[in-house]
Amino acid sequence: MSVNQLLKPITTVRNNELTIGGCNLVELAKKYGTPLYVIDEKSLREICNDYKKAFKDYKNIKMMYASKALCSLATSKILSDEGFGFDTVSAGEIYTVYKAGADMNKVVFNGNNKTAREIELALDLNVGRFSVDNFYEAELLNKIASEKNTKVDILLRITPGIECHTHEYIQTGQIDSKFGFDLSQTDEIIELIKTTYTNLNIKGLHAHIGSQIFEVQSFYDEIDILIKELARIKTQHKIILTELNIGGGLGVKYTNSDNPPAVEDLANAITKALKTSLEKYDIEEPTIFIEPGRSIVSTSGVTLYTVGSSKQVPNGRKYVAIDGGMADNPRPSMYQAIYSAEIANNTDGRELETVTIAGRFCESGDILIEDITLPKLNIGDILCIYNTGAYNYSMASNYNRTEKPAMVLVNNSQSDMIVSRESLDDLIARENIPNRLKK
Ligand code: LLP
Repeated sequence: MSVNQLLKPITTVRNNELTIGGCNLVELAKKYGTPLYVIDEKSLREICNDYKKAFKDYKNIKMMYASKALCSLATSKILSDEGFGFDTVSAGEIYTVYKAGADMNKVVFNGNNKTAREIELALDLNVGRFSVDNFYEAELLNKIASEKNTKVDILLRITPGIECHTHEYIQTGQIDSKFGFDLSQTDEIIELIKTTYTNLNIKGLHAHIGSQIFEVQSFYDEIDILIKELARIKTQHKIILTELNIGGGLGVKYTNSDNPPAVEDLANAITKALKTSLEKYDIEEPTIFIEPGRSIVSTSGVTLYTVGSSKQVPNGRKYVAIDGGMADNPRPSMYQAIYSAEIANNTDGRELETVTIAGRFCESGDILIEDITLPKLNIGDILCIYNTGAYNYSMASNYNRTEKPAMVLVNNSQSDMIVSRESLDDLIARENIPNRLKK
């Protein structure tokens, strides 16, 4: 089974206590403290292999991991070693993958409002492709490229007009979207590039329809629209675009009722959709870029928490609080995301009870899991929440002035800290009291 269809990292073992990558989670919690992000290297490499195997018959494929899901030096190094390029959306992501040793030619710079400083950095570090999102960016990029006396390879980000079935905050391809050119605007931007923005070299189109997608049909629809547009551009502008970036979006299994397609199903759907549309519109096979984020890193990650206080509402819910919450995982409060969890320590002989796992932050909405049935929780238990590799650390904040957790990489019974826990001094490190306030 492909890793994105699993609830837990592939190396998870329960023998009284939970072990991942050969590392006992209770011991990890003791050694590094909690909350703690744990990444299973084997699962991460396995999903990379799932992708490589699934697309092996499609030779013109470029796999660009979407860094926004999880970006750190160590994870970027692993993904780069596995042959992935990177979809990046900020100077921070570009700088991180560069420092991790990525081949910068295999980096795409996306985003709907890239700043001049970010564009300059991307050009100086030889980022391979810019996905140009709007008229302003085309003008700005062309200006900076001409000042640097260089020509930039670009894709045009377009809005294909597809509503996929996912949370509305993570749909991106619908007509009313802040991202990309509407299809009715592509002629105008191509004319401008041909006549005025001559430092831009247009190579292809880019779209991304949304995230946590369970229906491969959405990709058929997207590919048909994109290939039709390539054919139309060829006829209308006499330009042959040779690249198509179809974005990311494959869903993962957060709970037993989630049924995401396997990576192989995604690859088959993409390959079939391409074949059909290429024949239908009679154009040559473009190079395809895919940008999976969540499906690459989600399952390999878990978060460990320590159980603290609890509250039984008379005739109501029982809340059990842990030492983290919306600052290390904002997804339940932002998208009503549902997670599954287990107690990592030995719970033999305990009765089951249904509780709500509450975060420690000062918001009623800071609930990590509503109504989960687990062995009766005790103070000091270590709770392991599954599938937190994507969009947890990358979206973490210091809300309530708390320190961001550490992250460890586990493999072959070895654990290595890849992000250290923030300290109280880190929280004030960049702050200053103006002299005039000092008596
Ligand atoms: N490419 C583009 C242009 C994107 O905007 C995204 C995600 C991806 C690729 C990767 O999509 P994925 O394979 O991870 O689904 N914070 C939200 C998810 C936001 C996704 C934004 N764009 C969450 O926690 O669910």
